[in-house]
Amino acid sequence: MSESAKLSFKGQEYEFPVITGTENESAIDIAKLRGASGLITLDPGFKNTGSTTSAITFLDGEEGILRYRGYKIEDLAEKSSFLEVAYLLIYGELPSQAEYENFSKEITHHTLVHEDIKKILEGFPSNAHPMGVLSSLICSLTAFYPDSLNPNRSEEEVNMSIIRLLAKMPTFAAWAYKNEVGHPVNYPDNSLDYCSNFLKMMFALPAEKYDVDPVVSAALDKLLILHADHEQNCSTSTVRVVGSSQASIYASISAGINALWGPLHGGANQSVIEMLEAIKADGGDAKKYLDKAKDKNDPFRLMGFGHRVYKNFDPRARIIKKAADDVLTKLGVNDPVLDIAKELEHAALNDQYFIDRKLYPNVDFYSGIIYRALGIPTDMFTVMFALGRLPGWIAQWKEMRENGEPIGRPRQIYVGANERDYVSMNKR
Ligand code: CMC
Repeated sequence: MSESAKLSFKGQEYEFPVITGTENESAIDIAKLRGASGLITLDPGFKNTGSTTSAITFLDGEEGILRYRGYKIEDLAEKSSFLEVAYLLIYGELPSQAEYENFSKEITHHTLVHEDIKKILEGFPSNAHPMGVLSSLICSLTAFYPDSLNPNRSEEEVNMSIIRLLAKMPTFAAWAYKNEVGHPVNYPDNSLDYCSNFLKMMFALPAEKYDVDPVVSAALDKLLILHADHEQNCSTSTVRVVGSSQASIYASISAGINALWGPLHGGANQSVIEMLEAIKADGGDAKKYLDKAKDKNDPFRLMGFGHRVYKNFDPRARIIKKAADDVLTKLGVNDPVLDIAKELEHAALNDQYFIDRKLYPNVDFYSGIIYRALGIPTDMFTVMFALGRLPGWIAQWKEMRENGEPIGRPRQIYVGANERDYVSMNKR
């Protein structure tokens, strides 16, 4: 017999089905709550609200488990490649040899962007944050591919938009950086793999020979895998909600980039390094900053610590911590900021405030350190996160569309003024 949950209110009893997922997570299905009882639920920040059922990513925050389509993140980070993971997330299964070759060939073939996009890029001042530039360029694809505005296109046409997104995102990301430093843009080099091509577009200078360092390219590939999906977080929910209005896939992904930008979400990786730099400049006293983070009268938070769903070590942080050590050793980088990070981590993990609240280092605590070692400038860190998260956003958008989900439209409890008569307060 299927389970149910009962709600009793004003002497009436209401019964709601309980649905259980493949990993035994349970939810009370309240779809009929308002119709039956007139009540709605109130859950700021959606801390207890499932917005959808999804077959893409499983994460158990208490146990520190993360799997894409059933595959452990640890295995994927060690044995797979970013493009293979992208295929897995978007199409549901690991690609065969032929499928993989075709997928990467298609992506490579579409890396070039319309020349007029350069004019849009040139319109941005050089101090524009690359996240704003990236989201704008992605949204501009609606103008270059107006067919994408029709939500009821064939699967083949939708797939072409998906390929274009994956192919052009590294070009836009690198160009956003070139705009910032005032250098001419580099065109894609289709003889290179996904990450190497991105690195070359980022770092090659017209007057100098540039060879991609395979250590850097492999480290970047791993970082992108770790960021590729994370179920219904702020940016992913944004992509699904915007997409649910049947806006173009490009507009939906552009909205996701904007949602990712904030320091409480993807922007944390930039904030972590800025925080570590500030601690270093202030004499390197990690304890002082730990105390600030614990002080309720001080708005300071330890960036890179805590997570909405992980109340155990973030499994991505474990992998990335090791990768940071490996990359720094291989590249011979000696970063004093890393020493402060380790000191802070040690102090926080042994502090009762952080223990009580289950605040562990998250993925962003270490990703910034690797990005720095790879030569990526600080304000490009969140762009790197966006590059990694793209296949996840696409997969979630596709699933939302295939499920035929209704438009996202929460309710509210109104607490403003009751009806009142209009009496003008000024002489016009
Ligand atoms: N430093 C100090 N105290 C913290 C921190 C922190 N980083 N994070 C949470 N707390 C405290 C918070 O003050 C609260 O304490 P109390 O119960 O005494 O009021 C308690 O821990 C619970 O915090 P919360 O804000 O209710 O938790 P949340 O689930 O709403 O927020 C978070 C999660 C990630 C926004 C938050 O932990 C935070 O701001 N962390 C720093 C920013 C960061 O690193 N973000 C990246 C997240 S990982 C990348 C991603 O997936 O987006």
